[in-house]
Amino acid sequence: MAPGITLDNAVEDFVFTKTAGSEKNHATVTETLDLSSIAWAHCRESSNNFISDFYTKPTLPMLEAIIRTTLDDGDNDEDATTNDLQDYVAGLLGHESALLVPTGTMGNQVSLRTALGNPPHSILCDYRGHIMHFEGGGPSGICGTLVRSVVPANEHHLTLADVQRFATLRNTMYDCPTRVIALENPMEGRILPLSDIQAISNWARERGIHMHLDGARLWEAVAAGAGSLEEIGKCFDSIQVCFTKGLGAPLGSMVIGKKDFIARAKWSRKLLGGGTRASGVIAAPARVAIDDVLFGGKMKAAQDKAQRASELWTELGGKLLERRETNMVWLDYEGSGVDMEGFFKLAKEEYGLKLGGVIPERLVFHYQISDESFEKLCALFRRALAK
Ligand SMILES: Cc1ncc(COP(=O)(O)O)c(C=O)c1O
Repeated sequence: MAPGITLDNAVEDFVFTKTAGSEKNHATVTETLDLSSIAWAHCRESSNNFISDFYTKPTLPMLEAIIRTTLDDGDNDEDATTNDLQDYVAGLLGHESALLVPTGTMGNQVSLRTALGNPPHSILCDYRGHIMHFEGGGPSGICGTLVRSVVPANEHHLTLADVQRFATLRNTMYDCPTRVIALENPMEGRILPLSDIQAISNWARERGIHMHLDGARLWEAVAAGAGSLEEIGKCFDSIQVCFTKGLGAPLGSMVIGKKDFIARAKWSRKLLGGGTRASGVIAAPARVAIDDVLFGGKMKAAQDKAQRASELWTELGGKLLERRETNMVWLDYEGSGVDMEGFFKLAKEEYGLKLGGVIPERLVFHYQISDESFEKLCALFRRALAK
């Protein structure tokens, strides 16, 4: 710990004392900053926010990790904190190598650009895929590829039968052969069963088709018991994971794969401007996030709250659009006879809760939701569903 700096898990009570020598008069300027006045001390601001887990706030232990980090060049593989994190995450997923990137979108696009090579080619993915709808058209703009989006026959997740039906294996002058199968797990809170992933992976690998996973929230699937990171990781040739969202780091994602894939992915990262200099600033808090939130059991505890909320909603006569599987609860307002706008107004004005957002049916749980906010949510449910 640097002299004069006191940081701890408890938030508001600490004092940050900065001492700086003045060149001019050699006097020492001591400035005392109450930590409660800096944004890092305010992760409790997200304690009432059910709109998305990307509202999680970085914490003081993450700031402490940033203070302690190495500050060498990440773009040239010189930063020990970044290299350690890359090795750590690659190992967790049963792979050889990994590459830090600033965002999940870049992680997906770096992976796809690296996997695709020269056209003609196409990507097969679920019709709801993030790469399809929320990445600014990256697959066409950056990769020049055709995206074949598939509606799963079971209305839940892609299976081998879906993939076999829609993959392009023919390779005449008319075709864009399927070069990548891009899965997402969880898919908007829904878990892809490991056995289905394995079946698709075996089939794809026999045909030389690259398997990519958008695992922005893969940690949530693992916390929910959908398989280990390694079991899932081994089914894919590239994986993108985010350190933000439910893990709560300030930024950063990682692409994971074989050594030669990651070596080529560095070119794609460079092309997209994603190499960073003092990358330890990203890597250090990301490590805190994995160890504290995932392995510290906090993600699972947040999912338990999600489960209790979904049970209460149905016990009170409410309907769900679907069953809770990870940290998301999907409320069927219409089917429950609840006016959605009135519900949000009540939540805000009487209970101080933030609900709604671009996907209004969805309540997202994360580890910073406080017990107090959870109790208020239960009270809101009782009031809204009172007969
Ligand atoms: C499934 C999925 N993939 C990728 C991303 C992109 O992550 P980022 O916002 O870091 O670019 C998101 C973001 O919400 C996501 O939900």
